[in-house]
Amino acid sequence: MKKFYQLGIQERWQNLVNEGLVIPNIAQNLTRSFNLNEKQLSIFTENVISQFHLPVGLVKGLKVNGKKYLIPIATYEPSVVAALNKATHYVNENKGIIVTGEKLPVSGQIFINCKDKMTVNLKRLRLKETELKQIGESAVPNLVKRGGGIKRLTFNAFGELLVVTVITDTGEAMGANLVDTIVEKLAPVISKITGGEIISAILSNLPSGEPFKAQAKIPIDTIGIDAAKKIEQLSNISRFNLPRATTNNKGVMNGLIGAVVATGNDDRAVNAAMNAYLIENQQYSLTFWKILKGNLVGTFKGYLPIGTVGGAISTHPDARNFLSLLKINNSTELSHVLMAVGLSSNFSALLALVTNGIQEGHMRLQAKSIALNAGVGLDSINRVVAEMIRIKKFDTLTARKINENIKKGLT
Ligand code: MEV
Repeated sequence: MKKFYQLGIQERWQNLVNEGLVIPNIAQNLTRSFNLNEKQLSIFTENVISQFHLPVGLVKGLKVNGKKYLIPIATYEPSVVAALNKATHYVNENKGIIVTGEKLPVSGQIFINCKDKMTVNLKRLRLKETELKQIGESAVPNLVKRGGGIKRLTFNAFGELLVVTVITDTGEAMGANLVDTIVEKLAPVISKITGGEIISAILSNLPSGEPFKAQAKIPIDTIGIDAAKKIEQLSNISRFNLPRATTNNKGVMNGLIGAVVATGNDDRAVNAAMNAYLIENQQYSLTFWKILKGNLVGTFKGYLPIGTVGGAISTHPDARNFLSLLKINNSTELSHVLMAVGLSSNFSALLALVTNGIQEGHMRLQAKSIALNAGVGLDSINRVVAEMIRIKKFDTLTARKINENIKKGLT
């Protein structure tokens, strides 16, 4: 008998229904619409039973380092894309958001228990650095052909623990698989040289070098001095108030992660690296805003372990197509755009908070989704939504009634 993981999608559902674990209805609902075939879906996960679709909204014309971009955002939070498009009006002055920083090398770590002879082992390993580099690179010949490869190895001892760090230029790839391949190749070799026992060999998601830095300059007269002062104040609160800083950072991630996901990048790695940046710098907030010479200036610094080839970018057709919308030349340029998206997303959240409050925009989007669910067509949706907001009633019946009145010419 086949194991569950060996079955096809329909067979898996049948198995679950037969075991009384799910009702047939669920199986039907969850296998209705795939845009990837079963083989493609199986590339991404074992035990595939369905496909999760995220809406993708477009940010049109955010300017980063003087160039305007079309940016896809995968999200199911209704206000995120609207907020980002609104932000472009404010942040696009002059060259737009200025972002600096280069794609960084990726480090891999090999941990080995060495009972004795640590000093001798360190000496021996340092003498063999070139040889070890060659062995490591032999595991990733295509990377070497593309001009990437191991930059250096470092060897450190902490008591009986030997830590070997392998720093690799992974080219345009985020590089997780490449670095894992390299360290897994090297670990047994190093274990043999030292007589030590391998604990693990894995990449580090903390990029190796200087973080990216995005800066937005918003002329105060475009938002008004009151809003600018309150944004500055709110930003200062985030410096010492962890509950507020966490929410501030969530506003950054709203946009940033949406673009990371749409371009097929690893959102969990980005989250982990951003958290690491905060810990490393002993700060709560990812962004800071202050008034300087007639501008509200926002700064966002952090690590962004992303790529433009490899992983889901190469295997997921949607990711490749979304990435192509951006017309970027390399991973560094994509990182610049992503950092700008994070800062813009944060800015528009802060502006909403200190002006109309966040609920106004949310209400509009909520009313829209209720009205669409109630069967209101796109021809009358805006009028139905406006009326729902005016009378402050947000339910399906009200949406239907307003729609009927519009059709009868009564509203
Ligand atoms: C909501 O998804 C995000 C905000 O809460 C961010 C913030 O408070 O800065 C609006």
